[in-house]
Amino acid sequence: MVGGPVRDAALDLPVANDLDFVFAGDAPALAAELAEELGGEVTVHSRFGTTTILVEEDRVDIVTARSEVYPFPGSLPEVSASTLDDDLARRDFSINAMALPLSEDAPEVIDPHGGLENLANQSVVTLHPGSFTDDPTRLMRAVRYEQRLGFQISETTLAEMKHTLAGGHADAVSGDRWRHEFQKIFEERRAAEMLLRAIELSVLPAIHPALTDGQGLTGLAGETHLPPNGYLAALAMSLSAADGEDVRRRLNLPADWARVVRDTIALRESESSFDGQVSRISRFLDGLDPNAIAAFARISEDPQVAARLRRYLDEWRLVSPALTGDDLLAMGVPPGVKIGEVLRELNVAKLDGQVSSEADERALVQQIISRGN
Ligand code: CTP
Repeated sequence: MVGGPVRDAALDLPVANDLDFVFAGDAPALAAELAEELGGEVTVHSRFGTTTILVEEDRVDIVTARSEVYPFPGSLPEVSASTLDDDLARRDFSINAMALPLSEDAPEVIDPHGGLENLANQSVVTLHPGSFTDDPTRLMRAVRYEQRLGFQISETTLAEMKHTLAGGHADAVSGDRWRHEFQKIFEERRAAEMLLRAIELSVLPAIHPALTDGQGLTGLAGETHLPPNGYLAALAMSLSAADGEDVRRRLNLPADWARVVRDTIALRESESSFDGQVSRISRFLDGLDPNAIAAFARISEDPQVAARLRRYLDEWRLVSPALTGDDLLAMGVPPGVKIGEVLRELNVAKLDGQVSSEADERALVQQIISRGN
């Protein structure tokens, strides 16, 4: 057993139900045998000879022990089957480079890189100075483990991060790979702290130069129940529309993420007009993603704006007239587009408090009919 589960077990933390194993042999063959015994399903990801077995809720990854060579910074590694030692040596941090042999009765942790010591002194430390340049996504991983575990990235490792950043190596990583790291952070309890730290260490600005402002995140520190796109909105909060578009391109954002970014920026830009008529605010908000609105309500520094956005989500957007199209026809409104127009007018009047009962609505319809347009 390697990586996360060994680290977490050594820390007495609950071990996740996705376990990682290294096999110094043919992992796909072993996985096939195991899956048959456990009644699970096997998937082989051929590029790295890695294999996943799914048994109900549990996920087991078995990889063939391998060594890795990075042909150039940020590239995917060239891998070849190798020993357990080589397999541990290809990993990111000492705390993730430990193994527990399962074939022994009284197993002891195999720890060639001082992982246990770094768990004890609460340090995130790389295995070699080229680690971040080989794989710059580790810049985000370092921050993630540091903040998740309440550790410190060691001085030497911080210097290595700076060196990789100064070399511009973050540029070599694809948008999809960076986005995957963001996704992992968004799912963490301390996501806001992680993103703030990644800004502080110039990791986010290296991914995109506009990601320098943590203002939207500051108020979220200590917040543990935000949906993932809340953090995305907090990051987008201080971007200009042009930068938002540029970030979308850099990270190859899928449509739903792109919408949260775009709508968060639209909300910030029009925040000052949210004290106007309810019907006007509602019409504007109807065109935006409710996820972005909910996130913005959480991070806006203006309590009145936040309260109005919450009211929109809980109340205003659900408002509809008591009268139906059929009622309007029966009252003599001509069929066709006029019905829709009158229904919308009733809705506006209801949102703005000009009608509050069905009788009020009927009176307004009569007025509209006698107005004759
Ligand atoms: N790893 C690495 N470099 C990466 C990604 C992963 O060296 N860029 C190694 C680490 O040894 C890590 C293991 O692969 O422990 C598994 O990676 P992952 O599943 O991402 O992390 P876990 O350690 O399992 O931690 P967690 O899922 O708790 O974040």
